[in-house]
Amino acid sequence: MHKTAPRRLAATMRQLRVFEAVARLSSFSRAAAELHLAQPTVSVQVKQLSDVIGVPLFEQIGRQIHLTDAGRMLQATSAELFDAWTRLEMQVADLKGLKQGRLRIAVVTTAKYVVPRLLGAFCEAHAGVEVSLEVGNRSAILERLARNADDLTVMGVPPRGMDIVRHPFAENPLVVVAPRGHALAGARRVSLARLAGERFLLREKGSGTRLAVDRFLRERNLQLDMRMEIGSNEAIKQAVAGGLGLSILSQHALGPDEAPRSLVALNVEGFPIHRHWYIVHPTGKRLSVVAQAFFAFLKAQGPGIELPALKGYSAAGGTVQRA
Ligand code: PGA
Repeated sequence: MHKTAPRRLAATMRQLRVFEAVARLSSFSRAAAELHLAQPTVSVQVKQLSDVIGVPLFEQIGRQIHLTDAGRMLQATSAELFDAWTRLEMQVADLKGLKQGRLRIAVVTTAKYVVPRLLGAFCEAHAGVEVSLEVGNRSAILERLARNADDLTVMGVPPRGMDIVRHPFAENPLVVVAPRGHALAGARRVSLARLAGERFLLREKGSGTRLAVDRFLRERNLQLDMRMEIGSNEAIKQAVAGGLGLSILSQHALGPDEAPRSLVALNVEGFPIHRHWYIVHPTGKRLSVVAQAFFAFLKAQGPGIELPALKGYSAAGGTVQRA
């Protein structure tokens, strides 16, 4: 008699990636947005996968979707598969050294003024390296760090409660930004109390910039008249230039190319708030050869990164203080 081999479950890696995102985000539409796919594509992939498995993976209760028992089992198995696959990719990349390999970097929104340029120089030196760069605000990037989704992360406010390695590599000061022609532009030293009389447009909660600003204000027992919360440095600069209020932004966001000419930095007591950019990764993470090389590259290049000049900033003694 002749035994038939057990039927194999013919799931594809792509179906599993789509399933993982839907399961993690508990939403077909959010998974579609994260994966840059159309929602029907996501639904079809999940449907095909559940046909392969032979039982439903999700159940819908009201408007919410929940994993079934089979879905939870598949979620655990796919996590193991992805880990094994990532280890394999890393081992193969290490065999090839820096000639080929992948580098997955995640940076907070404001770091986009710093990191892509450095990546450019790094890629020029290592032409075979394929880079993916994820940009999001601090909370989005922290969520990626918690699930070990990237090789390296660049952020201004590393988390306190997570087991991570953090290495400061460049300055990241925050300055008060005003429209050119503002009554306080060019003043030698504006008192903090004077800011209380101004309207402010601040970055959204969840951003590193906002966290640093809130900490600074709390320590000084100061409240600002916050008129608007805006989730983009670029939009804030336009709104400030348009006279909607003042803001507190990273000096890196005031680069010559991006900043409207109509912005100036104010010399306010306690500012710039001196901070740093950090390279971060989970403790115990084994960095690939490419990630180690980029880490070393950031450490070497960091001190040489120039801050954009502060327009309209009048410092006592004539110089802008740096950390
Ligand atoms: P953000 O982070 O872009 O989330 O504000 C920047 C920072 O921490 O400086």
